[in-house]
Amino acid sequence: MKSYIGVYGLGVMGQSLALNIANHNYSVAVYNRSTDVTEKFAKDRIQSRKITPTYSVEQFINTLESPRKIILMVKAGAVTDAIIESIVPLLSAGDILIDCGNSYYKDTIRRNKSLLEKNIHFFGVGVSGGERGALEGPSIMPSGDEANYNLYLRDLFNVISAHTEDGSPCCDYIGPDGSGHYVKMVHNGIEYGDIQIICEAYQLLKSVLHLNNEEMADIFEKWNKGRLSSFLIEITAQILRRKDDLTDNYLVDMILDEAGQKGTGKWTSMEGLDSGIAIPTIAESVFARCLSAIKPQRVQASKQLPLPKQFEVEDKEKFIADLEEAVYASKITSYAQGFTLLAEASKENNWDLKLGNISLLWREGCIIRAQFLEKIKQAFDQDANLTNLLLAQQFKEEIINAEKGWRNVVVTAIQNGVYIPCITASLQYYDGYRSERLPANLLQAQRDWFGAHTYHRVDKPHDQSFHTQWEEF
Ligand code: 6PG
Repeated sequence: MKSYIGVYGLGVMGQSLALNIANHNYSVAVYNRSTDVTEKFAKDRIQSRKITPTYSVEQFINTLESPRKIILMVKAGAVTDAIIESIVPLLSAGDILIDCGNSYYKDTIRRNKSLLEKNIHFFGVGVSGGERGALEGPSIMPSGDEANYNLYLRDLFNVISAHTEDGSPCCDYIGPDGSGHYVKMVHNGIEYGDIQIICEAYQLLKSVLHLNNEEMADIFEKWNKGRLSSFLIEITAQILRRKDDLTDNYLVDMILDEAGQKGTGKWTSMEGLDSGIAIPTIAESVFARCLSAIKPQRVQASKQLPLPKQFEVEDKEKFIADLEEAVYASKITSYAQGFTLLAEASKENNWDLKLGNISLLWREGCIIRAQFLEKIKQAFDQDANLTNLLLAQQFKEEIINAEKGWRNVVVTAIQNGVYIPCITASLQYYDGYRSERLPANLLQAQRDWFGAHTYHRVDKPHDQSFHTQWEEF
């Protein structure tokens, strides 16, 4: 009996995905480079006859029905290249390789091109939802050849993905070559922004309002019942209540304040810079992780650079309400940036991304899952060519209503010397975007002065450039 599909790589994600596939009645062969891992998986977790463990690459490849369909769930980068190189000689024309890791989209474009020359169909597939999502239903962002996708992968991916309340799968064909990994990358950039915005709210509740963990958990729990309802807000409340196993303290207070990162937020920020799209909230969320990571320097600096005089907040309830508005408005602004980046990438690469559908893929299963994404879908349904989510009727109204509280939060943080880069960058993006006139006229004059870079005039057509001889020398 041959298997319909194979999973190469039995890390936590590979194991969960293989179990999910088998639970939906598809036969799946699994392989891992170190045999111990496969043996342990076979012993502890395989209950279904639908899963066939294999112990050599040759056995793995020969266990698969034709065309072979192989999911790679391995470390992104050089490891993925090395594995592709090692299995391609064993494959036949028409076989299908599916990279479900967090690969850089330019790598996916390159692999797609070179594998096509060998008649192997390559799919770059974004998968979000962590270990539990992979097991119970992740959000899936597939890209590659559409005809082969429809023939061999669509039904499988739809059934193993998360589903919205009305039963729609959180999986939809994204587009050709690297588009699936691009969309996953932007998902992660937005995830970085969401996480940092929540952490900034926590920081303000803790250091300005002096609330304890249980009081903060109550606030996040309450927010989770309203428009901020989301997986990340929900787990924040739960994290704040968790007691430490080793001491009498809360666990969160025992965790070192040094953030890790694997690079997808950085890639998103680099993409913003490369394509000239302002995504300051996402970029600041990456820099916030960088600053957090230099803990010993911060400890030294905190002894030499004192806090400013502290302003106590008198009306705590009002501040908490303002903070909810600041978090919500920052979230809208951050998603506005992420979707603008997606729109630009779609144009640059001819991907024809369906932005409304993408927002629905993220409605369940993934890390940024939230009710909020439905509003984004509605905004694109109302206007498929929307240039910026800030201009969608509903978001426009919500952000104008939130503005006063948002500004109050930023002012309070700045007065008290609290670092809230993402909430501030979001407000600054909003102020920049809604400014009819910015000081770039002066900037252009300076560039023209020292570098003869030329400028456009307000009273002449845009295709005409001007230069002034600013000084005699
Ligand atoms: C997901 C997550 C997942 C992973 C991130 C974390 O969508 O399931 O985004 O891909 O948790 O890579 O990234 P950092 O380690 O960079 O925070």
